[in-house]
Amino acid sequence: MLKFTGTLKISGDKSVSHRALIISALSSGKSKITNLLESDDVMRTLKILKELGVKIVKEKEHWLVYGNGTSGFIEPSKYLNCGNSGTTARLMIGAVASNSINCNFIGDRSLSKRSMSRVTKYLEKMGAIVNITNKDYLPLVIYGSDKLLPMKHQIQKASAQIKSALILAALNIHGKTKIIESIPTRDHTERLLKYLNVKFKIKKLKNKVSQIEFNGPYEIKSKNIEVVGDPSSASFFIVGALILPNSKITLKNVMLNPSRTEFLKILKTMGGKIKIKRTGKLSGEDVGNITVEYSKLKGVNIPSSKSPFLIDEYPILSIAATQAKGKTIMKGLDELRHKESDRIKSITYNFKKIGIDFYLKNNDLSIYGKTNLKIKKNLQVKTFDDHRIAMAFSIMNILYKRKFKIDNMKCINISYPDFQKHLNSLLNK
Ligand code: S3P
Repeated sequence: MLKFTGTLKISGDKSVSHRALIISALSSGKSKITNLLESDDVMRTLKILKELGVKIVKEKEHWLVYGNGTSGFIEPSKYLNCGNSGTTARLMIGAVASNSINCNFIGDRSLSKRSMSRVTKYLEKMGAIVNITNKDYLPLVIYGSDKLLPMKHQIQKASAQIKSALILAALNIHGKTKIIESIPTRDHTERLLKYLNVKFKIKKLKNKVSQIEFNGPYEIKSKNIEVVGDPSSASFFIVGALILPNSKITLKNVMLNPSRTEFLKILKTMGGKIKIKRTGKLSGEDVGNITVEYSKLKGVNIPSSKSPFLIDEYPILSIAATQAKGKTIMKGLDELRHKESDRIKSITYNFKKIGIDFYLKNNDLSIYGKTNLKIKKNLQVKTFDDHRIAMAFSIMNILYKRKFKIDNMKCINISYPDFQKHLNSLLNK
């Protein structure tokens, strides 16, 4: 039986890589970025920044970004193609909004079905003009302005992308922009700006509500950035080691930001033997090593309040649930419907084919663990061109002696181009 053993340095974090590029582009002067994730999504952001007049070059193992300041974008002559990347689209729409330029954003088929008004409705209130297809989707044209109004915004949805888009716009708005976040989400934008000595206030209000206050415009002095390892990428090998008997691995350089490590808490509650050792901080983010060994898992209840902090890990957590004793309940998965694919559908479609029992009602998903599965040969797993679905079922596939045929492995390049190489380096007889 194959197992996972050994040590691995995880690739750079996707969310931080996008932000490292964008914020370096908005800084004044040269920034050196090391360990940038060179995935399809991140390269979309990089190319768009180049279209906006930012010089970015690769030198040996690192990238150099020559920032033009918070008001330094020039009007692009081409369409800005975000490909499959929601983070690119939403963050870049925010970043260009407070520059007096017009930009045309486009994306691939999947991205062109994902809401953009969730960001643009706030930008329009401040004075940006947006022409958006079918009310909500790309392609869209944004007519930015360096005279956007400073305002107070209350974000209804739990989305780090909306929050970050407004923060990036606020950097070139004259006056106070207040952003009230009712449900906390990942805070990489705030951490990176703090690391770059940008002055802003975060006030904790009642019931986990917080208010972020920017008083722009800002001049950000460039600083070198080292991108920390991606915990969401690590989650695939962590679950792999938990479910493949006799496994034991150590993953190094993994981000330990609490807004991203909720899945580790869940897996520990399921009985996972996971040890976390903090080693320090990298460009504003906590970092450390994680050791995981094979464990007998049991089902858990995951309340909807945890969902913003588990949003990218539900596919692999569902795979862990198939190997746990008893029932795992995941509540409040509504936002999963709006990711690179409808991930509730992508998970349950494949579970049905494989023979995993589940119950779905009102976007609450219950999964019944089943370790004695008999898998048919040549069973087709459909990824719906979603990278996290492809990686999650690749891990499950190892357990079932690779009897699944996974229809699109290429889409993994969206977030983790080294996935297969890293998987092979950990996989042993
Ligand atoms: C991201 C935020 C999350 C996450 C996505 C990356 C980011 O989306 O799913 O993969 O980098 O801000 P939402 O916060 O919009 O749900």
